[in-house]
Amino acid sequence: MFFISFEGCEGTGKTTQIEILKNTLEKNSFDVVSIQEPGTTKLGLKIRKLLKGSLDDSEHLSEITELFMFSAARADLITNKLQKLMKSNKVVICDRYVDSTTAYQGYGRQLDLNKIKLINNLATQNIMPDITFLLDFNPSTGIERLGSYQMEFSLNESSNQRETEGVRFETESNEFLNRVRNGYLELAKNDPERWKIINADLTKTKISKIIWETIESKLKNI
Ligand code: TYD
Repeated sequence: MFFISFEGCEGTGKTTQIEILKNTLEKNSFDVVSIQEPGTTKLGLKIRKLLKGSLDDSEHLSEITELFMFSAARADLITNKLQKLMKSNKVVICDRYVDSTTAYQGYGRQLDLNKIKLINNLATQNIMPDITFLLDFNPSTGIERLGSYQMEFSLNESSNQRETEGVRFETESNEFLNRVRNGYLELAKNDPERWKIINADLTKTKISKIIWETIESKLKNI
């Protein structure tokens, strides 16, 4: 398995780049598996749905509960998906992984980073990406690109759920997203071997070229 993860704030174009990379890899005869967090497994999808706002609004979802929900989805992804792929020669592309928890729940929600690390290691069983692309820009650009509403948390798909979510994540302000961004930059600075920071203000074509140039040589080893 060659494991690639994509990280960044909302609106940075992760999904588009994942799609482009998947197509390029397939054109080059690689066997690709695309996964998403939270989601992918049956339990992961159920947790995603719960996080999307189908919870009863009369009960507050605490930041710790939120942390455990993301982590539970991830633990399930490891057990039911990633561990099975470990010995294969597939390229796995993950739309968000454990660094999202450090960035959003750790830096964003300001939960204790050491505790987050512990929980992250438990959930992932120390399975880490070979490379992580950080699509980075000023979060206010993302707000402009997506419209302010979606920035509140884009886990929603239906408009009913959107309303509930808007309430739950109203704290996800520009300030919150700036903390998330700085958290990502800090993570990348501390592990430059794994991270590749890309300026998400560049054109779609330029970004995809950087991504391909970064991984092409590494893929020869799988
Ligand atoms: P999603 O709809 O997947 O959006 P995106 O296209 O931005 O990836 O929403 C995922 C949201 O969940 C996003 O706002 C980041 C957040 N998140 C966390 O807060 N912690 C986590 O561990 C993960 C995986 C995601």
